[in-house]
Amino acid sequence: MTGAGSSTVVTGIGRLVTCAGPDGDVPVTDRSVPAAERLGVREDAAVVLEAGAVAWVGPAGDAPAADRRVDVGGRAVVPGFVDSHSHLVHAGDRSAEFAARMAGEPYDGGGIGVSVAATRAASDDELRGLLAERVVAARALGTTTLEVKSGYGLTVEDEARALRLAGEVTAETTFLGAHVVPPEARADRGSYVDLVTGPMLAACAPHARWVDVFCEPNSPHAFTGEESRAVLVAGRDAGLGLRVHGNQLGPGPGARLAVELGAAAVDHCTFLSDDDVAALVDAADTTVATLLPGVEFSTRMPYPNARRLLDAGASVALASDCNPGTCNTSSMPFVLALAVRELRMTAAEALVAATVGGARALRREDVGRVAVGSRADLAVLEAPSHEHLAYRPGMPLARALDL
Ligand code: NIG
Ligand code: FE
Repeated sequence: MTGAGSSTVVTGIGRLVTCAGPDGDVPVTDRSVPAAERLGVREDAAVVLEAGAVAWVGPAGDAPAADRRVDVGGRAVVPGFVDSHSHLVHAGDRSAEFAARMAGEPYDGGGIGVSVAATRAASDDELRGLLAERVVAARALGTTTLEVKSGYGLTVEDEARALRLAGEVTAETTFLGAHVVPPEARADRGSYVDLVTGPMLAACAPHARWVDVFCEPNSPHAFTGEESRAVLVAGRDAGLGLRVHGNQLGPGPGARLAVELGAAAVDHCTFLSDDDVAALVDAADTTVATLLPGVEFSTRMPYPNARRLLDAGASVALASDCNPGTCNTSSMPFVLALAVRELRMTAAEALVAATVGGARALRREDVGRVAVGSRADLAVLEAPSHEHLAYRPGMPLARALDL
């Protein structure tokens, strides 16, 4: 961010990808412009940043004077990634669960209990330190907006604590008390849903922008459609926006519930029926289908069918889902590489989904693009173009521009 009153001109941008269309003015919410056109590529460009926002975008030769000059040496610049799905407040280690999965064990959400125990046992400062390291790691790979969920506390105090800590690093905080039914509540699921929709929600809502639920009848640990509906309706009544984990492990009601209740996003979308896809297409201006291919990479599950969603006209985002169980990476470049290689998205579709798509999923107009008035969130690539993100997987090609 630039300090108030000071301006910075970023020059030496060999290729600027604005994600704001050919004239730099396509809003986040406008879905009519195809990805390739939305890229809004400009060669030899400059950007002026002032008071934390983009003040000017244009040819390097026309750049106005500014208090400070940052030369990026011919590199490409893209909007900072908008990672609309992460679970960064947790302690503990589940590498043994990953190893067991690689040896053939399926994922069913049961390992979440391991993270819950470790997270409850950690001090505030331990969790704060772990969270800070994870935010730094995400930013080091180009992420400038990060949604962070609770969900490894699962008591009133531990969920509220997770959200207080998350609120120290992002405005995009999500209450996920309905992540799984914790071990101590298994005998009485109904009471746990009452806790989540009652006292836990009351304690957490002041610290959260969103409510989320792991709607997954295919897992004995997660929530049915009706339980999920109760959680989402209570969250909505408490003033929170809605998000859903849906259709991750098998077919289920998550996507249709998200659409019916006007959720901002339904995330995973790995097992969708034709009716689910049709519902997401009808609701494309409201509900984003967020794909998290790092999860399928790390669980060895089938990848979601991105082409089916994109070709039908659904609104698609890409996010990391960084979490200790199903995907322990916050690397959006890795997610983009998977999206191109495994989901058959074009490089343009993947970049737009990881920037503008994430902004839509968070209902944010001020991030995801390099456009006048947008936040001063740029990612610099150690590469001449965004295509290198998929072409050179695993390489540290993107970083958030620090000013
Ligand atoms: O998005 N599916 C539910 N939650 C996480 C996994 C959490 C965990 O296993 O710790 C997810 O994949
Ligand atoms: Fe998740």
